[in-house]
Amino acid sequence: MDKELMGKTVRAMIAKGKGLLAADESAGTCEKRFASQNIPCTEETRRTYRELLFTAPGMEESISGVILFDETIRQKTHDGIPFAEYLAGKGVVPGIKVDKGAKALAFFPGEQVTEGLDGLRDRLKEYFQAGARFAKWRAVINIGSGIPTETCINANSHALARYAALCQEADIVPVVEPEVLLDGEHSIERCYEVTEAALGSLFNELRRQKVSNEHVILKASMVLSGNKAQNRAGVPQVAEETVKCLKRSVPATLPGVVFLSGGQTDLDATAHLDAINRIGGAPWPLTFSYSRALQAAALRTWAGNPGNAKSAQQAFLHRARMASLASLGRWAPELEKISSYCFFLVLIIMS
Ligand code: 13P
Repeated sequence: MDKELMGKTVRAMIAKGKGLLAADESAGTCEKRFASQNIPCTEETRRTYRELLFTAPGMEESISGVILFDETIRQKTHDGIPFAEYLAGKGVVPGIKVDKGAKALAFFPGEQVTEGLDGLRDRLKEYFQAGARFAKWRAVINIGSGIPTETCINANSHALARYAALCQEADIVPVVEPEVLLDGEHSIERCYEVTEAALGSLFNELRRQKVSNEHVILKASMVLSGNKAQNRAGVPQVAEETVKCLKRSVPATLPGVVFLSGGQTDLDATAHLDAINRIGGAPWPLTFSYSRALQAAALRTWAGNPGNAKSAQQAFLHRARMASLASLGRWAPELEKISSYCFFLVLIIMS
């Protein structure tokens, strides 16, 4: 286990004012997202779209790392440079999603466990050679009547810890993601309770399996009311509950926490991250690892038309810059309208 290399990777991933771009949607998820914009989904359209994101000029100012999918890490820019090599060349750390998706948990209706441990040791070796320096594994926790059960939480924590140990053995930094889903009518209090239980179980299991906390990144969901809840909590409450929950559950030795956007609107994901960072006093940097909240506007703008590529890149860069400001607690709704020139002025004034 090369702790020095993993330490270097971690420091690059959580560099101040930066976060991760999750571009690791499986072919199936891509199909759904592309279909919503009437974009044909082929290996080549997926490659073209990912190239548009990765080559957006200056994306490395706000993005420290990119999570790739198995197909994507094998793909190249139109000039023939493998994506992982291209990203590393701009100082962006390449990462890889290694789980094989959440599957129904036998005998536990409505609950899921993530698969993908078989053969993982060999796959990690291959991904390391392809340039990946961190990995991601997503567990899914549903909230509903009588769920999640302790069995589901523990089964997912156990798999996350086995994955994390294998990653560290291969000198790859594991991103552990126990996602508590937004879907449902539950209150913010219920989300808090479930998130705390999931994180408590995860960190116990990581300790049992001798995973080094100093070389793990937590990808957390924010503590939110369900998307169908009657009275949804506002931004200040979400920020307070999220920070409280993390402080009570996450060891201070962890190098960083990144959030998923989880189906929040772009603005909610940004406003919540900003409010979380304004609270201050957390022992770890709190930044983003968004897929939808960084990409939705770009995908809509691109719509599969090569003539829209430049404006799609601008739409992506805009969201990345707003998330970057939010990771510093320096975002404000008025900044949504600023040009890239003004963005750099804001950064200079604030530094
Ligand atoms: P969202 O930001 O769209 O939730 O995706 C993040 C992610 O990578 C989920 O695993």
